[in-house]
Amino acid sequence: MTNAADPLSVVLVGPMASGKTSVGRRVARRLGVGFIDTDKRIVAAHGPIPALFAEHGEAHFRDLERAAVAQALSEGGVISLGGGAVTDADTRRLLHGHPVVFLTVSEDAVADRLRGGTRPLLAGDDPVERWKRIFAERREWYEEVASISFDTSRRPMQRIADEIVAWRREQR
Ligand code: S3P
Repeated sequence: MTNAADPLSVVLVGPMASGKTSVGRRVARRLGVGFIDTDKRIVAAHGPIPALFAEHGEAHFRDLERAAVAQALSEGGVISLGGGAVTDADTRRLLHGHPVVFLTVSEDAVADRLRGGTRPLLAGDDPVERWKRIFAERREWYEEVASISFDTSRRPMQRIADEIVAWRREQR
């Protein structure tokens, strides 16, 4: 089920601003494995996400993202995906058989986290309203790929990370 070279791999999915990167880093540190943020990999190789969306469109971004996810899964460790990775059926297929954690967050808690952001899908008036609509559209996909979910709304990220580590160790 997991990468044989790295039995403690974990994939984190969830909506924008659900804490995938901050929780993921902490989980990786505790497990003593590497951390990969697929968005960061895409930016390093292809430039800023808003420019990618503006110049080449979302479909192109999803292609780059699928390739980044495939590469990350082959390396193992803790892997944090962009919020929209699950919209792509082939990316969802790649996740099959991996331990996938779905991070959730409430609408109230997310409002603070979205302030001052540069996410292209939330650009314009009322980012929280857009976030809510997008999350509602994608929720089933998160549930489809996930093995378990944790809510990050009101608890310290370290506590959530510790719970994920405990869960992951039980899976071995
Ligand atoms: C996106 C989420 C972003 C990033 C891109 C698209 C989405 O990642 O991949 O802006 O479609 O939800 P975060 O979930 O880390 O914000």
